[in-house]
Amino acid sequence: MKRVVMLCAILGMSGPVLADQALATQSGCMGCHKADAKLIGPAFKDIAAKYKGDAAAVDTLTAKVKAGSKPGEPLNWGTMMMPPSPAPEDDVRTVVRWILTH
Ligand code: HEC
Repeated sequence: MKRVVMLCAILGMSGPVLADQALATQSGCMGCHKADAKLIGPAFKDIAAKYKGDAAAVDTLTAKVKAGSKPGEPLNWGTMMMPPSPAPEDDVRTVVRWILTH
């Protein structure tokens, strides 16, 4: 009985994080992004720091990830453009929320 309770506690704590990471992987984000280091795109912790306190960030970034970087628009992070994401908007929004918790 004790074991079951403990297992529930563990799942309850790590479940959402694992699900978000799995969704990010499934949505193709992890090929270019990492939590704490720059890959092709910026590190999630740098994105979270940049948009800290920005109440509109979830909406802005979800739209940006869906549409991708626009040719001719200034890049926010450097030299690479992000391609438009084929992932469903709800998934992208969930992943963006998770990114902003880094
Ligand atoms: C092919 C590589 C690639 C993939 C796949 C990719 N990204 Fe990016 N991402 C980038 C690059 C490059 C940038 C930096 C663009 C810039 O400088 O404006 C970026 C920037 C971002 C930003 C910050 C945008 C800003 O304007 O500050 C967010 C948030 C983000 N990505 C989320 C995601 C999510 C969520 C996914 C998956 C649905 C994803 N990315 C998939 C390469 C990628």
